[in-house]
Amino acid sequence: MSTPWHHRYAQRTHGMGSSMIRELLKLTQRPDIISFAGGLPAPEMFPVEAFEAASSRVLRQHGSEALQYSTTEGYLPLRELIVEKMGRYGIEASVDNVLITSGSQQALDLIGKLLINPGDLILTERPSYLGALQAWRAYQAEYTSVPIDDDGLRVDLLEEALCGGPKFMYVLPNFQNPGGVTLSYERRLKLIDIADRYGVPIIEDDPYGELRFEGEHIPPLVVLDADKLNGRQYTQNDEPHSYFKGNVIYMSTFSKTLAPGLRLGWIVAPKSVIQHCVMTKQGMDLHTSSFVQMVAYEVAKDGFLTAHVRKIREVYRERRDVMLAAMSEHFPSGVSWTRPQGGLFLWVTLPEELDSTAVLETAIANKVAFVPGETFYPNSDSHNSFRLNFSNARPEEIEEGIARLGQVLQTVLDAEPALAF
Ligand SMILES: Cc1ncc(COP(=O)(O)O)c(C=O)c1O
Repeated sequence: MSTPWHHRYAQRTHGMGSSMIRELLKLTQRPDIISFAGGLPAPEMFPVEAFEAASSRVLRQHGSEALQYSTTEGYLPLRELIVEKMGRYGIEASVDNVLITSGSQQALDLIGKLLINPGDLILTERPSYLGALQAWRAYQAEYTSVPIDDDGLRVDLLEEALCGGPKFMYVLPNFQNPGGVTLSYERRLKLIDIADRYGVPIIEDDPYGELRFEGEHIPPLVVLDADKLNGRQYTQNDEPHSYFKGNVIYMSTFSKTLAPGLRLGWIVAPKSVIQHCVMTKQGMDLHTSSFVQMVAYEVAKDGFLTAHVRKIREVYRERRDVMLAAMSEHFPSGVSWTRPQGGLFLWVTLPEELDSTAVLETAIANKVAFVPGETFYPNSDSHNSFRLNFSNARPEEIEEGIARLGQVLQTVLDAEPALAF
């Protein structure tokens, strides 16, 4: 029965209903289930003691500032730390190019509020990050999408999709969520070139770029774009450079390197864009928690974060290796998967005839879980894939969970005689 509120909900909420997948995923929180579903970092890596000490220090030394309202742009020392950190990563920005957000999820919402009119077309990768698709659906965005392969976005198919006139492109170049794949250097250059020719800006979402376990760092799109605007091409041997312009809005987060419970992310963009973001954010939450920003700064400063990220990379590399080895051992033939060089996820493709949501039901009955792939497709039009997270479970749980999943896949395949491999 409809409630008295029913007819008052805004049109933009109409696509927000609960889904069968979400209902199934609720079950994955049972303690007897080994879940590879969430995008959760390893909880044992959270630097709890460092946070305890930093919280006391902040309250003792800057208590009234930490508990007071603050500026929308964010805590200046934290923005300076981000500028310094981004510089080491290759992005030369100044504090005027940085806005602190309440997680990069807020940055995505903020971009939607700032840029999307009802009916605007947004170009995404296929599959893409569910949280962005949901956030922008609420602004009544329409999606056009371009598939990914092992080298990331299929840039060769981009121009056709651009003919639809999208407002911007949303790209996850490093260890993509959900695919785990990375956009190659050559494709990055082509993407920047095409974006420039068609005059379509890029939102670069990069929560995982620092979590590279192997292979060479590839310059972010925001850097390649700045180089192009400055009339010279970056080579992979170049020193970081000293300018920032930008047809790209870049965003990242402390969620995967410090702790997601902080809800701390940031946007790097041209100063005029940051000013508009600031005005937009004021209506959302005035500013991100002063206390949390100050504590995060106290924890991250003096090289702690850099050393901590090194440790996380080692732990996640081991977990990825354990998962890949267990998949090779237990997954039946006819099933394929990506081999990420970093990040938190890998992507599994089943024979076309299988529906991964139905497989999830069997998996849950066997006490193992994943996220079905269709949730990551802007038009939910692909059914035979799923995402696995390798950062959250311990190695021995990964081995056990993948063995269970291998058994589930074998059972499902055996029940489909047409798929006997
Ligand atoms: C690609 C991508 N963007 C944004 C987010 C949101 O992260 P945050 O915790 O900073 O809001 C996530 C979280 O998993 C993500 O994978």
